[in-house]
Amino acid sequence: MTDNGTGTHGAVLQDTVPEDEDRPIVELRNAGKAYGNIRALHGVSLQVRPSQVTCVLGDNGAGKSTLIKIVSGLHQHTEGEFLVDGAPVRFSTPRDALDKGIATVYQDLATVPLMPVWRNFFLGSEMTKGPWPVRRLDIEKMKKTADEELRNMGIVLDNLEQPIGTLSGGQRQCVAIARAVYFGARVLILDEPTAALGVKQSGVVLKYIAAARDRGLGVIFITHNPHHAYMVGDHFSVLRLGTMELSAERSQITLEELTNHMAGGAELAALKHELSQVRGVDVEELPEEKDLTAPVATAGEAAS
Ligand SMILES: Nc1ncnc2c1ncn2[C@@H]1O[C@H](COP(=O)(O)OP(=O)(O)OP(=O)(O)O)[C@@H](O)[C@H]1O
Ligand SMILES: [Mg+2]
Repeated sequence: MTDNGTGTHGAVLQDTVPEDEDRPIVELRNAGKAYGNIRALHGVSLQVRPSQVTCVLGDNGAGKSTLIKIVSGLHQHTEGEFLVDGAPVRFSTPRDALDKGIATVYQDLATVPLMPVWRNFFLGSEMTKGPWPVRRLDIEKMKKTADEELRNMGIVLDNLEQPIGTLSGGQRQCVAIARAVYFGARVLILDEPTAALGVKQSGVVLKYIAAARDRGLGVIFITHNPHHAYMVGDHFSVLRLGTMELSAERSQITLEELTNHMAGGAELAALKHELSQVRGVDVEELPEEKDLTAPVATAGEAAS
C-alpha cells in the first residue's frame, strides 16, 4: 500500500482518549434525526468495532439509510451523540467522514461505466508522475496497483482494461470494497449491497464483506435479508419505524429468531392465519404461530 492508502490514519488520533483495542471506532448513543416534523430516527445506539460486521436490518422506511447518512457525513444527527474513536463528532460533508476513514459504498455505485476497471479504481484519486508542469497520469502504476489490490482481496478479473460497466453488479460491489480497503478505510458502510443480486452474486459479495472484516475493518452492513446478515454478522440491530427494536450479539440470537423478528412475529402470525383462509395458499411452510412470537433479546437486555 502507498502513502495514499494510509495517509488518513494520522488525522484520526487527535483526541486525548487513550488507545484501546476494543474501543468502537464509531458509536451512536441515543442518536436521532428529524427532517422538519418527521422523526426518521430516535434513540438509536450502535457500536462499530474493528474486525466486526455490524448488521443493520429493518423494513422499508425503518430508518436504515438515515442512520448511515449520519455516519457517512451526508446528514447531521439532531439528537444524542455520535462519536468516532471515543470523541464526539459532527460531520459537515462526506469528506469529513472519509478523513476519519469512514467509507461508504452506495448501491448506485459512483462509477463511470465506460471507463476501464483500473481507471474507476482510482477515480478522483489518480496517481501521477513527473514534475510540474509536465505531471501526468501514472497509468502503468495504477494498473499494477489495482491488479495487486484486487488480487489481495481474492478478486480475480480477466482483464482490468474492460469497461467497469461490463462487470456484473456483484463484481462492481467487490471492486468498490477493494477500493475502500486500499484507500485506507477503517469503517466500511454498505447500503444493501446484495438487494439487487441473485443468490450466487450475493454469496460473492458476502465473501468480500468477510474479507474486509478479516483485514481489520469495521463493517456496517445494511440489509433486508436476515439470511445474508447471519452469514457474516457479529452483531445485529433491527430498526423499526425509526427506533432500535433489537440489538443482539451473534451468541444471543439464532437465525430463526432474527428472521422472525425481522418479519414482525405477531404480524406474520396474523398473516398466516389470514392466508390459511384463502384457497390455494399453502401456509404449511410458514413457521408455527408460537415460534413466530418467541421472545428474543431486546435492545435493552443486550446492552446490559
Ligand atoms: N430527506 C428526507 N426528508 C423527509 N423525510 C425523510 C427524508 N429521508 C427519509 N425520510 C423519512 O424517514 C423515514 C426513514 O427513511 P429511510 O430512508 O432512512 O428508511 P430505510 O430504512 O432506508 O428504507 P428503505 O428500506 O426503503 O431504503 C421514512 O419515513 C422516510 O419517509
Ligand atoms: Mg434505504
